[in-house]
Amino acid sequence: MTENRTVRPLIDGFGRTIRYLRVSVTDRCDLRCRYCMAEHMTFLPRDRIATLEELAVITERFIARGVRKVRLSGGEPLVRRDVMMLAQRIGRHVGGALDELTMTTNGTRLRQYAPELAAAGIRRLNVSMDTRDPARFRFVTRHGDVAQVLDGIAAARDAGLAVKINMVALKGINDDEIASMLDWCIAEGHDLTLIETMPLGAIDEDRTDRFLPLTAVKEMLDERFVLEREEKGTGGPARYWRVNGGTTRLGLISPLTANFCDGCNRVRLTTEGRLYTCLGHDDQRDLRQALRDGGVDALDAAIEDALRTKPRRHDFRIERDAAPAVARHMSVTGG
Ligand code: 5AD
Ligand code: SF4
Repeated sequence: MTENRTVRPLIDGFGRTIRYLRVSVTDRCDLRCRYCMAEHMTFLPRDRIATLEELAVITERFIARGVRKVRLSGGEPLVRRDVMMLAQRIGRHVGGALDELTMTTNGTRLRQYAPELAAAGIRRLNVSMDTRDPARFRFVTRHGDVAQVLDGIAAARDAGLAVKINMVALKGINDDEIASMLDWCIAEGHDLTLIETMPLGAIDEDRTDRFLPLTAVKEMLDERFVLEREEKGTGGPARYWRVNGGTTRLGLISPLTANFCDGCNRVRLTTEGRLYTCLGHDDQRDLRQALRDGGVDALDAAIEDALRTKPRRHDFRIERDAAPAVARHMSVTGG
């Protein structure tokens, strides 16, 4: 990339260097997971959604300024028709300015898209699958077919993509299935990340009823598996363990029972082209508007401004009858 401007690295007000950008390419999804969305969601009107070109220009500006890893997410990224063009465009930087391009997907469309994703330069996918039981899956997602997701995961592996399963730990829904999910991941060669429910956006039920602290889950898993802590931090919220001395890694994302913000290296770009510097706060800057008004210089200034006010930490709590910590859903900001 030709770069004539003075390029300052992205450092926030607490001295944290930003190396990781997540881009939510759509807030829409073909599933309706209970902890994520209400059954009848109002999605963004089309005219508020940034064009693919705008998302690409903003993302490439972050890459020019030192971001080394980009994750495409949503919503479900593969329901946006032109997402593959974005993947191809950003994928061109992999091996150069970018170490890695990844995607978080619900897997329903992987049979169709896995080969193209691999060709675009993606090597690893996170696939959200909270249960392998068909009836439970239909319940959690309100209509999804787990066979389609399992087939998508097989397609991803056939295409040479490494798969990490994301499983949101839900009390009374899948807590009795966590050990067997890990057994399955070991057999299939996948990694597994368990996630605590986070209070993001209004849903139809009370998350407190489903909240399962991962501290208890870890104790249960310690009795069945040999878990060796991997200290190498990713600058992210997950802590990792190697399972039974093999290749499978277990990750635990515990925003409620462990705070990880001191090493945070990430920011999030939404479908509307807004930058959120913290999943747990409402502060945002409209980067698309800045770009429209004043080109790359104004974009840079808006990014600087956002980083100066990146909060020190989130303050999630799960409390009965409390309003969500932030009003927007995970599908808006990207997981
Ligand atoms: N709390 C925790 N995890 C969530 N996800 C979506 N909404 C929430 C929430 N409120 C998960 C999805 C996906 C990942 C990116 O985030 O299941 O795996
Ligand atoms: Fe869709 Fe993922 Fe939300 Fe489920 S958790 S509704 S798959 S965006």
